Amino acid sequence: MLYLIGLGLGDAKDITVKGLEVIKRCSQVYLESYTSILTVGKEALEEFYGKELILADRETVEQEADAILKDAQICDVAFLVVGDPFGATTHSDLVLRAVKLGIPYRVIHNASILNAVGCCGLQLYNFGETVSVVCWTDTWKPESFFDKITKNRRNGMHTLCLLDIKVKEQSMENLVKGKKIYEPPWYMSVNQAAEQLLAIVQKRRLEGEEPEITEHTVCVGLARVGAENQKIASGTLQEMTTVVLGEPLHSLVVTGTLHPLEIDMLKLFAADKSVFEHC
Ligand SMILES: C[S@@+](CC[C@H](N)C(=O)[O-])C[C@H]1O[C@@H](n2cnc3c(N)ncnc32)[C@H](O)[C@@H]1O
Repeated sequence: MLYLIGLGLGDAKDITVKGLEVIKRCSQVYLESYTSILTVGKEALEEFYGKELILADRETVEQEADAILKDAQICDVAFLVVGDPFGATTHSDLVLRAVKLGIPYRVIHNASILNAVGCCGLQLYNFGETVSVVCWTDTWKPESFFDKITKNRRNGMHTLCLLDIKVKEQSMENLVKGKKIYEPPWYMSVNQAAEQLLAIVQKRRLEGEEPEITEHTVCVGLARVGAENQKIASGTLQEMTTVVLGEPLHSLVVTGTLHPLEIDMLKLFAADKSVFEHC
């Protein structure tokens, strides 16, 4: 049997009772390590679960999925995902492969950033399509996430922006030389995401457009949601470039049309409440 188990958002103790029971009886336990992180590392999880974990980075999951599934044909295998197993786009593939091989699977859900974002006071029902904000390079500056946020906002919807994570990446130099030397993990901050969005606003203006999203658009920055030191800050997009949220992970919400109740909630997290005078 293949078990996909959500670990929740904070630390080792956010696993569900059901999830923990399953982990304890599995012969092999993989920890997916490239789409999200908890506030604690592998060792703390091993201690709490009482089980050794096998780290599964993108390479392992994509290239060795067959090996993981082969084990699941003969014994119970757990595949642990931070948040909810289906809170990332990548894990349906493992399920489809398991089904193709006739391997039974079970999903044990948990909290995901996709629902826990409601902690900032915005109604989950009022969110449109979730977007991923990727980190720009000197030569690659995609803007598709900006267009999706614009579309959501025109429909009165809020947008949850998930921010880029780079784990086990090689520098261009090491890649060219074929050296398997990896850069330290990197997590995009709300400040960096806001800077990129504002750069697009400026560019669009130079192109003669008046963008739907501006420096004054109300946004929410969230850090380490679900952890004891979770932090939320609301304010303008401009303010998001300097807000101090601390350690990863971060998410950014660009608001759409705000309901009076949502405004009251967002005011709880605002340094400058006058931002809401024109909402
Ligand atoms: C690819 S998603 C994975 C989502 C995860 N499977 C889940 O269900 O929550 C990872 C991104 O979600 C956001 N994220 C995940 N957990 C978070 C948290 N606890 N606080 C703030 N943002 C979080 C970050 O932007 C992060 O880069």
